[in-house]
Amino acid sequence: MRPVKVAGLGTFVPPKVLTNTDLEKLVDTNNEWILQRTGIRERHIVEKGVGTSDIALPAAQAAMKEAGVTADQIGFIVVGTTTPDMIFPSTACLLQAKLGAVNAWGYDLGAACSGFTYALSTAYTMVASGACDHAIAVGADVMSSIIDYTDRTTCILFGDGAGAVVLSVAGPDEPAIIDFSHEIDGHGGPSLCMPAGGSKLPASHETVDQRLHFVKQDGGAVFKFAVRKTEEIALRLLKRNNINGPDLDLFVSHQANRRIIEAAADRLQMDSRKVVINLDKYGNTTAGTIPLALADARADGRLKKGDLVLLASVGAGFTVGSVLLRWGC
Ligand code: COA
Repeated sequence: MRPVKVAGLGTFVPPKVLTNTDLEKLVDTNNEWILQRTGIRERHIVEKGVGTSDIALPAAQAAMKEAGVTADQIGFIVVGTTTPDMIFPSTACLLQAKLGAVNAWGYDLGAACSGFTYALSTAYTMVASGACDHAIAVGADVMSSIIDYTDRTTCILFGDGAGAVVLSVAGPDEPAIIDFSHEIDGHGGPSLCMPAGGSKLPASHETVDQRLHFVKQDGGAVFKFAVRKTEEIALRLLKRNNINGPDLDLFVSHQANRRIIEAAADRLQMDSRKVVINLDKYGNTTAGTIPLALADARADGRLKKGDLVLLASVGAGFTVGSVLLRWGC
């Protein structure tokens, strides 16, 4: 296997902001409740007609620019998303065409909130194996397209956003991706899902009338699983690599709920300055959260080239993921 580095990072959120106060006008909620229970203040949402490939495009372009890689050099594109533009063609195909990545193949990957960690490790494997020299891993979601803005238990949580990294072969002394560990537990399916619109329950008047094309969640069950598994997967990967929590420079967890991240960080004995929390600005953008958090950490000086970084995610499925790396750009 060849060493692989993160050569470029790009992100994008749509300009329109939906604040907690805006949501107070839509459902029976209030800013204090949302802030206290989740840590979220506002989220960005797209205008009607904007799809996941549209927000993935500027993120991927920015990542390519930083990596100094042209579209024709990209060999592989993987898009982690729960909200593809349509069931088919894949968002990866749509993005490939928009980028003009004429030498790339690729596909979408359905891992919900673990979309980015899974896409990152899939693209890593492609470059490490020699299948290509440069790959793009995207985490992007337009959650506002599947959120029921009459359901106060879910509509406060989610936002839209995208992030992308370019992965390239690393030189022998360059900071590189170190390891990953993932698992899935399909018993968690009913706890967080969108019941209709797939092959089992195609769209019909009844599914629309019953509001089955929206996210349904048992918040308590997801919360408990996320707290337990974020810690478990992170510790497993650290142990395997003989690293202790305090040795890390940065811990970047999926951004679903401030309390989930703080509980995991506590158990990893992480100094709070090394824990990225930016869900106050974006809410839960599903596959977009981790690259958005990495970009913010870089902007505020907490993430630098060579830093030892642990990524962790838990999502619908359930999906659980973690990636350990030395930051490369
Ligand atoms: N505004 C005001 N009150 C609300 C509300 C809202 N937006 N949503 C729910 N409530 C009410 C409930 O109806 C309930 O009232 P009751 O006690 O009269 O029945 C009360 O607040 C407590 O609800 P509960 O669901 O127990 O709150 P919670 O502390 O568990 O927080 C979540 C709810 C959704 C924030 C929390 O469970 C969570 O974050 N879960 C994980 C979600 C997640 O991470 N999803 C993505 C995974 S990738």
